[in-house]
Amino acid sequence: MKFHIFDKLPPYVFNVINNMKIEARRRGEDIIDLGMGNPDLPTPQPIVDKLIEAAQNPRNHRYSSSRGIFKLREALADWYARNFAVSLDPEREVIATIGVKEGLGHLVQALLDRGEKALVPDPCYPIHAYSVLMAGGNLVRVPLGEPRDFLQRVRRRLSGNGVKIVLFSFPHNPTTRCVDPEFFEEMVHLARSHGALIVHDFAYADLVFDGYRAPSILQVPGAREVCVEFFSLSKSYSMPGWRVGFCAGNAQIVAALARLKSYMDYGIFQPIQIASIIALRECGAGVSTIVETYRRRRDVLVEGLQRAGWPVEKPRGSMFVWAPIPEAFGSLGSLKFCQWLLESSRVAASPGIGFGPAGEGFVRFALVENEQRIRQAVSGIRRALRAQQPLAG
Ligand SMILES: Cc1ncc(COP(=O)(O)O)c(C=O)c1O
Repeated sequence: MKFHIFDKLPPYVFNVINNMKIEARRRGEDIIDLGMGNPDLPTPQPIVDKLIEAAQNPRNHRYSSSRGIFKLREALADWYARNFAVSLDPEREVIATIGVKEGLGHLVQALLDRGEKALVPDPCYPIHAYSVLMAGGNLVRVPLGEPRDFLQRVRRRLSGNGVKIVLFSFPHNPTTRCVDPEFFEEMVHLARSHGALIVHDFAYADLVFDGYRAPSILQVPGAREVCVEFFSLSKSYSMPGWRVGFCAGNAQIVAALARLKSYMDYGIFQPIQIASIIALRECGAGVSTIVETYRRRRDVLVEGLQRAGWPVEKPRGSMFVWAPIPEAFGSLGSLKFCQWLLESSRVAASPGIGFGPAGEGFVRFALVENEQRIRQAVSGIRRALRAQQPLAG
């Protein structure tokens, strides 16, 4: 049998490392998994308590609303007002999604017609690129590099006209790159003057360190004419399995997503929506604890790798460390390097190539094991690098 999806979507590169990890664990090896960005911290207790309480009420067992219950959308609007002084109409400008991944995938399907162009940074979180291919759109990968250079490249592409969507995410996965409000101002200006739409994935809104504050693109005056922004409870509140996200901003774009979703789903299980209201309204302290935990892990990993002679930078945002492959191993490529890393140091990481061609030459570590395990990972990597150095050099 032949299905077009297999041509459009190649097997996940990450599966190669994942399968190796599973086999190694089956053999009884202790693998430290810094591969997938799957948050390991517990969801704050008041959210779990509310879920349990709401699940006891049979009224909450019915189909919910595919746009999300009003109070949840209102809680998201309040979150934007508190954190970014952005005022949103919860009725027209906010929709709940089954996580960002679902919402973004469906939004691109709702907006893009066959053959229409979407610009996506290279490297990127895979769904950003593949949502375009799934929708039958024309994917244009724009090398990310420094934000200023990225702006220039986007400007050039937009002036060639015919671009429908520009899709990006800052703090950025996988590169951890962060931007300032001026970057967004410039992007919004470009999109408005060329008739393009912007989809900003703000999944790492809260995961920022060292005094950096990630701007929301909706803070830019006029942004709402052309932009929507996604936010997720997966990272900030450590609720990855709960599947709660939002899309907010331009009312017509939100309506397009709402239309598609009204055919596709009946909304998130209502007790989860009710518990998510508690997250947004009452769990600021929980977010701070989660952020502080990632910061400490980041410091342990980055400082440890630096001491091991692997120069990596401390990210200001996200839950990742993006590391150039050590010079002596450069010719291996990121997939082979990650295979070597797993075999020689028992540490799983994600090969940069899995995020797009420009990710080659890098590996991504996700900060999803505790500090002690990360120390253990660093020791393993240090030993492996030392042993291999003379051979690789
Ligand atoms: C940029 C980005 N967007 C979205 C997601 C997933 O968000 P959600 O769990 O809400 O689907 C991730 C997860 O790694 C991500 O890195």
